[in-house]
Amino acid sequence: MPDLLVRPIRWERHVLRVLDQRILPLREVYRDCRTAPQVAEAIRSMTLRGAPLIGCAAAYGLALAVRRGGRKALKPAAKLLLASRPTAVNLAHAVDRMVRAAEKFSETELKNGLEKAATDYFEEDLEAGRRMAKFGAALIPRRARILTYCNAGALATAGIGTAVGVIVEAFRQGKVEHVYPCETRPFMQGSRLTLWELMKAGIPSTLITDNMAAHLMKTTRIDAVIVGSDRIAANADVCNKIGTYALAIAARHHGVPFLVAAPLSTVDMNCPHGGKIPIENRDPREVLEVGGRRMAPKGARARHFAFDVTPAGLVSAIVTEAGVVKPASGPGLRRLLKIAPK
Ligand code: MRU
Repeated sequence: MPDLLVRPIRWERHVLRVLDQRILPLREVYRDCRTAPQVAEAIRSMTLRGAPLIGCAAAYGLALAVRRGGRKALKPAAKLLLASRPTAVNLAHAVDRMVRAAEKFSETELKNGLEKAATDYFEEDLEAGRRMAKFGAALIPRRARILTYCNAGALATAGIGTAVGVIVEAFRQGKVEHVYPCETRPFMQGSRLTLWELMKAGIPSTLITDNMAAHLMKTTRIDAVIVGSDRIAANADVCNKIGTYALAIAARHHGVPFLVAAPLSTVDMNCPHGGKIPIENRDPREVLEVGGRRMAPKGARARHFAFDVTPAGLVSAIVTEAGVVKPASGPGLRRLLKIAPK
């Protein structure tokens, strides 16, 4: 089975081509980004999404900025990209990496140098996915029935994905019996994106609505819940798509291991605990409507928190490209960061 069943971004002749995830799986359309503001808008509008992929796109966004506007364009573009979405720390990680790379290049080297730095960043994430998949698959028992949430697959990264990457690798090893992706209201990353990826990979899967998860854990054998993350704090609190916290509580209640797969670019050692992670507030209309069709009464109010934080104590293990922290802990993360290749 090839590694890359889906390519959410492509870098072609100084253009970033972005697969529009808002209209998947019904239509596969690539939108061209030729400027940093276009990349920032693609991130803001969720044309592309998923923490590691947001970082990769931002890296290419900075390469586009200097190609058009030279070194002076770097800072404003970095500011714009950083403001596009607040929660996934991979965005800041990528921007920081690119700004530091730019400092090392002469004026003549800058354009091609930053383009290569962005491609290196992308390839690093791709390799991190492969490594995470191997580490994570080792935690999956035989004949596993796995529940997953949101989309932490190829569509969210440069490569095979994080949580879905682990599932795909475990499936290749003959260990996966069945996967249950939750729909993931309101953007439906689970039903539109994860299920699409699982079906492409030929993995037996059945869609459930978000509010079926606890019932399923109670009435069926579920061997693991595995999710991705947008930011992991220094104490190993895990921020991920809204609804993840409730899944972790249900998993603990039913004695189901709750696994998180994320590259080290998702770990924010400057953030002491989950309470300090900025939670994105999105347009309440996304909650009031389903598929663009109004569902709530006229004049109704809604909140749309896009993420929540699962306390480290509920996380059985964090799988990274440098190894596994089991159970999740700050000291465990620090140890992995020290041994990780720079
Ligand atoms: O709002 P999204 O779709 O960008 O949220 C994505 C998630 O919450 C994913 O689980 C997370 O980014 C990990 S992706 C490997």
